[in-house]
Amino acid sequence: SQVEKGGHRHFMAKEIAEQPIVLGDALSHYLRGEGMEMPAPGLDFTEFDRMVMVACGTANYACVVAKYWFESLAGISVEVDIASEFRYREPPIPPRTLALFVSQSGETADTLAALRYCEGKAARVVSVVNVSESSIARESDLVLPIRAGAEIGVASTKAFTCQLTVLFLLALMAAHDRGRLDAEELEARIAALRQIPGLMNIAMASSDEIAAVAKSVSEARDVLFLGRGAMFPLAMEGALKLKEISYIHAEGYASGELKHGPIALVDKTVPVIVMAPSDHLFDKTVSNMQEVMARGGKVLLITDVKGARAAGDGCWKTILMPEVDPLLAPILYALPAQLLAYHAAIAKGTDVDQPRNLAKSVTVE
Ligand code: G6P
Repeated sequence: SQVEKGGHRHFMAKEIAEQPIVLGDALSHYLRGEGMEMPAPGLDFTEFDRMVMVACGTANYACVVAKYWFESLAGISVEVDIASEFRYREPPIPPRTLALFVSQSGETADTLAALRYCEGKAARVVSVVNVSESSIARESDLVLPIRAGAEIGVASTKAFTCQLTVLFLLALMAAHDRGRLDAEELEARIAALRQIPGLMNIAMASSDEIAAVAKSVSEARDVLFLGRGAMFPLAMEGALKLKEISYIHAEGYASGELKHGPIALVDKTVPVIVMAPSDHLFDKTVSNMQEVMARGGKVLLITDVKGARAAGDGCWKTILMPEVDPLLAPILYALPAQLLAYHAAIAKGTDVDQPRNLAKSVTVE
């Protein structure tokens, strides 16, 4: 009903809009006062040499973002796999491996099977779930709830940003345990994370502008999403969102991989959505955009003021995000990616909350 949708037209719209609040709640659950209530009591990251992270769909992209965090902040190697592959390829699980499973529902059959596989190999099993009474939660040694509240829209939105938030906290904890982050640096990172809900509120103000671009995007047959570093998995998530609810073919690529194939698709009918906060690699992203423009491609750049200035003229459209710690940008930039997919679906008239052929929770193989 309208009431359940909080006055929004769709659950997805409500779930996108409530992210600043939901994220703030999740943060206050894990963070007390200035410091950090250890999100995972009893977990000591000096006991592990590597991690495997396994999930499906959007949760898998949250894992890929987190890989960048765990590796760069905590210096721990992370392998990420989709559950349907992981469970059958007999991956070796050496001692001192932490196995981490991410699932909104906690009931995804492949993810649960992957968890049981790791348990069979005597790995420590931690899960990041939304539903705390789920099978995956029940079978884990330690459960970290994302506290996103019920997510009704089939396309995951707030669960994704809450998964990222909890995974970032866990990466900070890992970095601290492993002596890579002193108390002062930890505090600075946490302070940056605490800013995200406020920045999301600012980003929400771009909704009308995004709706206008989404209208043109909805006329495309193919769309490319590009990102670098931790924004690469977000490019894949942006493409997934668009596919799921608007049925437009979309691919997410690492910006540097453009020249190794996808550039062959580029012409004036293909929107290329570049999601890039101004970071130390931004000039490389600018040259990727120039390669697209030189072939007549339409670049939609989602960046901050500094990035827009550095990119110069030539973009088809620019959407401005507030400035953010580049490491945390995937959480903030998830919002425009979700809004773009949502408004493209509205323009096409598809069933946003119940897209064809998809299920909220895939409990059978
Ligand atoms: C389904 C949903 C996706 C979700 C995936 C994993 O395919 O449609 O939105 O990302 O399952 O679900 P989980 O509950 O394990 O996060």
